[in-house]
Amino acid sequence: MTQLEGHVALVTAAGGGIGQATAWLLAERGAAVIAVDIDETGLAETAAKAAGRLSILKGDATKWDDAQAAVAAAKREFGKLTILANVVGGSRPGQTILDMSPEDWSHWVDLNLTSTFLMCKAAIPLMAESGGGSIVNVSSGAGVTGMMRNPAYVAAKGGVIALTRSLAIDHADQHIRANCVAPGPILTPLMERNRRPEEIDYLAKMTLAGRIGMPHDIAATIAFLSSKDGEFINGELINVAGGRRGGV
Ligand SMILES: NC(=O)c1ccc[n+]([C@@H]2O[C@H](COP(=O)([O-])OP(=O)(O)OC[C@H]3O[C@@H](n4cnc5c(N)ncnc54)[C@H](O)[C@@H]3O)[C@@H](O)[C@H]2O)c1
Repeated sequence: MTQLEGHVALVTAAGGGIGQATAWLLAERGAAVIAVDIDETGLAETAAKAAGRLSILKGDATKWDDAQAAVAAAKREFGKLTILANVVGGSRPGQTILDMSPEDWSHWVDLNLTSTFLMCKAAIPLMAESGGGSIVNVSSGAGVTGMMRNPAYVAAKGGVIALTRSLAIDHADQHIRANCVAPGPILTPLMERNRRPEEIDYLAKMTLAGRIGMPHDIAATIAFLSSKDGEFINGELINVAGGRRGGV
């Protein structure tokens, strides 16, 4: 499928899980992809298994210099930028705000929300210069309904949804759309770190689909939102959770 031919995409967290599946799918559908991650081993795997044009770059999405370097790489290697997939994020459930240090709070907010701000701030000028495009931010069901003992993640992912609406409003006149995807339970290294196998089985049974989500489920939604078929969708939140409602 060449649905994204002519596009240049920047994907964060592209060394594993949802970001890696997104980088692979966008490249397979014809976009030239800059894949960014802090994990060089993961990035090497992303490059090795890519079916299409894909360049890797080690970078930390919570750092302004690295965000700017990633956008500069898109310009240098492919001449423009039309798709930004902000996938970076994660959490470690187990604390209420009473147990959480201010440093831990800042860490999770930086990882999930400030990274989105920095990547958008770096990317929007080049996207505008490129004639516009699509930003897709990855939130979580946790940002919609809340979740036990994960307050910084819940707050940051809720912030990602609100920031997406703000981006859609502010940059529509530059032909840049911004949408948000809230994944349900998706089988990735993050889930395998945070959940025991029996919990993963339980989460799978809680979906109407009767299965756990796969990284491709989210990648396919990001690809659709960024394609011509998604051009009338702007400022929206799409739950991709197999029919389940709730935080993961
Ligand atoms: N897996 C789920 O069930 C689930 C559910 C809801 C939301 N999400 C969200 O989906 C997104 C991806 O989750 P995942 O499950 O694929 O995670 P993951 O932990 O499996 O993979 C994350 C990738 O991000 C990279 N990374 C971490 N910090 C980074 C940084 N500062 N800069 C650049 N790269 C960095 C890691 O090296 C890793 O390759 C996250 O935003 C997460 O909150 C996941």
